Amino acid sequence: MEMLDKDILRYSEEHTTFESELLRRINRDTHTEVSKPRMLSGHLQGRLLALISRMIKPTAILEIGTYTGYSAICLAEGLSPDGKLITLDINEELESRTRSNFKEAGLEKVIDFRVGNALHILPTLMATFDLVFIDADKENYCNYFDLIIDKVAVGGFILADNVLWSGKVLDPEPDKDTRAILEFNRKIQGDERVENILLPVRDGVMLIRKVRH
Ligand SMILES: C[S@@+](CC[C@H](N)C(=O)[O-])C[C@H]1O[C@@H](n2cnc3c(N)ncnc32)[C@H](O)[C@@H]1O
Repeated sequence: MEMLDKDILRYSEEHTTFESELLRRINRDTHTEVSKPRMLSGHLQGRLLALISRMIKPTAILEIGTYTGYSAICLAEGLSPDGKLITLDINEELESRTRSNFKEAGLEKVIDFRVGNALHILPTLMATFDLVFIDADKENYCNYFDLIIDKVAVGGFILADNVLWSGKVLDPEPDKDTRAILEFNRKIQGDERVENILLPVRDGVMLIRKVRH
């Protein structure tokens, strides 16, 4: 199901700060050369991530699910001058493309890109994060939340992508991934450590703020 009328999407993009030349190039190349390009955040969501990051001015960002690096570059726009972003992806095949995108963005020293299974890497991270973006395999969304919530500062934010899952969250007979998203949304809604809003942007973005330990 298309979540947004095409003309409304086009109008929204026309009235949203344009992508940089580099982001447009990554967006275009991902669509022509990489499988499953729909996974890339894209213009509208990319600007949302960048603006949220600029409002928070984080020192430490964590991203779970790098893909070709589009969203990491957007999130890095808001980093404080000495800030760092760690991003994790399990797909080795995209590593050199993604590293080269970070280099072209001048972010190779700012972005710590680790290739491996996030479920194994997350417990080894000792940092406290001001902003986390969850955008990897849906079946582990709840696990990712559990693994990172104690590493998020009180007052820090978590964003989770695809929480409307192309509208399938309303299916009477949800499939496996949809059930995982439904469970995540229920979990967040019932967790007293956080306040949250489900933004119906693109495929749905859950914006979560940690209010207490
Ligand atoms: C939706 S894409 C990320 C898109 C990217 N954040 C963007 O907006 O451009 C999801 C990514 O999660 C990665 N992924 C899936 N399972 C993972 C896991 N267990 N650990 C780390 N990354 C994983 C996939 O390889 C894929 O590149």
